[in-house]
Amino acid sequence: MTRQALQPRENRWACLGQRPVIAWFTGLSGAGKSSIAGAVDRALTARGCHTMVLDGDNLRLGLNRDLGFSARDRAENIRRAAETARLMAETGLVTIVSLISPFRAEREAARAIAGDIPFLEIFIDTPLCVCEARDPKGLYDRARAGAIPDFTGISAPYEAPERPDLAIPTQDRSVEESAALLIPELLRLSAPGRA
Ligand code: ADX
Repeated sequence: MTRQALQPRENRWACLGQRPVIAWFTGLSGAGKSSIAGAVDRALTARGCHTMVLDGDNLRLGLNRDLGFSARDRAENIRRAAETARLMAETGLVTIVSLISPFRAEREAARAIAGDIPFLEIFIDTPLCVCEARDPKGLYDRARAGAIPDFTGISAPYEAPERPDLAIPTQDRSVEESAALLIPELLRLSAPGRA
């Protein structure tokens, strides 16, 4: 089946006064993805940009509530998030996705789903030992104790990006400093004049 023809999306984008971008954050649990996504989101909004954040923990409360953490469920989690990001981007939003998304192949699939919408793979680069020391939700402790199976970095794999569009090493950087590394590029790509 082919998709129904819609009005040219450029009409919607012109109405909004911006062009869409998808910024896809990948990294371990506790790496700082959600915090940095929040800081980028607030900064862009303050600059008059229309944005949306799709966060793994939030998606798993609704759209993806039927999914667990097997490799198969994670792949489906990422596919749904990528399709949702694409829909949001079609409306013109700067869409920030924050998911562990541990597998390279699924991240590449997400890029393919984005099609011709600019897609930036952002590696929130925080070593496992730092995530584990932070352990904001106490999950690493429980995973080490065997109470959480298939925990990324402990008992399930994380494939770091080989050529991310941007890597943000978060050690010795505040959330605001980390966000500042990405914000100019998102403002540039979402500018209405960009061809
Ligand atoms: S993903 O691997 O499918 O991309 P996602 O980003 O949606 O993961 O969800 C990760 C969040 O779920 C973690 O930040 C953590 O709070 C929680 N979580 C619960 N169980 C696990 C697990 N086994 N592995 C990783 N994260 C888990």
